Amino acid sequence: METLMGLERTHSCGVLTTENTGSEVVLCGWVSRRRDHGGLIFVDLRDRSGMVQVVFSSEMDATAFEKAESLRSEFVIAVKGQVRNRAKETINPNMVTGEIEVYCGELRILNKAKTPPFYIQDGIDVDETLRLKYRYLDLRRPEMQRNLILRHRVTKVMRDFLDKQGFIEIETPMLTKSSPEGARDYLVPSRVNPGKFYALPQSPQLFKQLLMVAGYEKYFQIVRCFRDEDLRADRQPEFTQLDIEMSFIDSEYILNMMEGMTKELFKQAVGAELDLPFKRLTWDDAMDKYGSDKPDLRFDMELVNLSDVVKGSDFKVFEAVLQNGGQVKAINVKGYSNAPRRELDSLVDYVSIYGAKGLAWVSYTEEGIKSPIAKFFSEDILTNIKATMNAEAGDLVLIIADKPSVVAHALGELRLEMGRRCNLINPDKLSFLWVVDFPMFEYSEDQKRWVAMHHPFTAPRDEDVQYLESDPGRIKAKAYDMVLNGTEIGGGSLRIYNRDLQSRVFKAIGLTEEETYSKFGYLLDAFEYGTPPHGGIAFGLDRLIMLMAKRPSIRDVIAFPKTQSATCVMTQAPSEVAPEQLKELSIRTAVIAKKN
Ligand code: AMO
Ligand code: AMP
Repeated sequence: METLMGLERTHSCGVLTTENTGSEVVLCGWVSRRRDHGGLIFVDLRDRSGMVQVVFSSEMDATAFEKAESLRSEFVIAVKGQVRNRAKETINPNMVTGEIEVYCGELRILNKAKTPPFYIQDGIDVDETLRLKYRYLDLRRPEMQRNLILRHRVTKVMRDFLDKQGFIEIETPMLTKSSPEGARDYLVPSRVNPGKFYALPQSPQLFKQLLMVAGYEKYFQIVRCFRDEDLRADRQPEFTQLDIEMSFIDSEYILNMMEGMTKELFKQAVGAELDLPFKRLTWDDAMDKYGSDKPDLRFDMELVNLSDVVKGSDFKVFEAVLQNGGQVKAINVKGYSNAPRRELDSLVDYVSIYGAKGLAWVSYTEEGIKSPIAKFFSEDILTNIKATMNAEAGDLVLIIADKPSVVAHALGELRLEMGRRCNLINPDKLSFLWVVDFPMFEYSEDQKRWVAMHHPFTAPRDEDVQYLESDPGRIKAKAYDMVLNGTEIGGGSLRIYNRDLQSRVFKAIGLTEEETYSKFGYLLDAFEYGTPPHGGIAFGLDRLIMLMAKRPSIRDVIAFPKTQSATCVMTQAPSEVAPEQLKELSIRTAVIAKKN
C-alpha cells in the first residue's frame, strides 16, 4: 500500500474539460472499471464530482502500466498525468468528461478493495436490504450522491432564505418531556433519576412556542424528530423537519411566506419555476371531491355524490346504506369501459383493503350500458346517473356505498389507483396545494374521546370557540397543510396563546386538570407571562427532497435510514445491551411475547 505523500490532488475527476488539455493533473478516487487493450489499460476513475477516463500505456510509463494491471473495481488510487483530447472517433458522448482523457505518468495504489456485493453505478436492481447493509457502498453510487447533495443544497437555500427574512436558528433539547403529536414516544431512561425517562422529541412544538413567549419572534430549526409509529415509504422513526414559528402574524402571512420559500427552493435546487399563489382547498372540499386530506391534483377524476340520484331504487344495498346515514359516491374512469371482468373483480378486492364492503360498476358502451346492478334501477335513475357522472360511451363508472368515512377512504384510494392504471399521473408535474380549515377534533372510536386532529395547541376558529363544550365535532381549526403531488409535505397552525382557552381545549380532549398540569403545566404557566399571538409550520424535509429527487421512498434521500421494522441492518441497531448497563439504569427487562 502506498501513501499520498508528495502528491497533492489538483483537480476533481468530473470537472475536467478540454480547457485543461495539456496540463498536468493529480486525481484521486475509486476505480470504477478497468479494461485491458493489449498495450493500453483504461480505467474509469470516480470521485464525488464524477468520472474520467485514465489511460495507462507501457510506452508512457512502464511502472505505472504494470501496477495498473493489478487494479480492481473500487481500489483507491492517485494518478498523476496529462490531460489530452480524445481522438474524434473515441469521444464518449455519454460521459461528461468524454472529450478528454488523462494519460497516467504515476500511479499510487492507496488501498485495495474486496469485490463489492453490487455494482457501484446508477439504476441497479438489488434488494434494498443488501443496499442498506452495505450503505457506504450504496451511497458511493452517483444517484445516491446526487440525492444527498440536493439535500444539502435545499437546506442551504432554506437557511439563506429564512436568515434574510430575519429568522434565527435555535436548537431545542433532544432529551425532553413528551409533547404528544399523536404517535408513540421513544423513551430514554435516566441513570441519575432511577425509574424516570426522557422522551425524544416528536417535534419541538412546545419549545418553539416557548421561544415565542421568550420574545424571539422568528425562529427556525432544521431538526431531527422521533416518532414510534408504523413505518411506510414516506415515514421513518427519525426524520427531519424544517420547523418554523413566528409571532404577531396571521395565517395569511405564513402561507404567503412559505409559498415564497417553496418557490425559491424549487428554483434554486431543481430549476423549476412554480406559479404562485398555490391552490387552496378546505378540508371539507378535499374530502368531498378527492376522499383525502392530501389529494393528488395532477389529475381530475373527482368523487361525485350519487346519494340523491339513486335514492328510492330497488337496490337494497344502497337503500340500507342511505337509511343509516351513509353515502353513495362514484368516480368516472374515462375510456375504461373495456376493462375485463377479471380486472373489475380485482378492484373489488382492492377497495376492500380500505374497508369497502362492495364496489358496483356501470360500463358505458356504444351498445348501451352493462352493469350487474342496472336491473335495480328505473330508466329515470339510469339516465340521471349517466348525466350526473358526465358519462359517455367508453366510460366506466365505479360506485361505493358505505358510511362517509369509508366511502372517502376507499373511493379516494381507488381514484389514485385508477389514475395510475390509466397513466393519468404525469411524473414531471408539480401540483402544490394548501388544505385549510381542518376540523379541530376527530372522534377516536378506540379511545372513546375526542382527539386533536393536528395537535391540542392549535387555535380553533374564533367563531367556533363557543362549541368547545357543546359540540366539539363542528369546530374548525386555524390549521393548514401543504400538499405536493398527494404527499403532505408540511403542516402547521396558529396557536392558542391564552391560558383559559388552552385549558378548555385540554378538557375537550378528556384531560383532567391534574393530568393537564402534570403534562403541560409549564406551558400554561408561561402563557401567564405575556404571550404574543403566534403560529408556525413544519415541513418534512425528507419528503420534500424525495419528491424533488423523484424517488419512491424517503429512504433514498436519508444517508442511513431504518428499515420498515425500524432496524438498521448495517449497525444491527436496536440491539441488546450488557446487563451492567441495565443495572446502572435501574432497569430489569422481561420480553413479553406480543399477542396478535
Ligand atoms: P406534523 O406532525 O404535521 O406537524 O409534522 C410536520 C411534517 O413532518 C413530516 N413528517 C414525517 N416525515 C417522515 N417521517 C415521519 N414519521 C413523519 N411524520 C411527519 C410531514 C409533516 O407534514 N409540530 C407540528 C408542526 C406545527 O404545528 O408547526 C408538527 O410536527 O411532512
Ligand atoms: P349483491 O346483490 O350483494 O351481489 O351486490 C350486487 C352488486 O352490488 C355487486 O356488484 C356488488 O359488488 C355491489 N355492491 C355490494 N355492496 C356494495 C356497496 N357497499 N357499495 C357499492 N357496491 C356494492
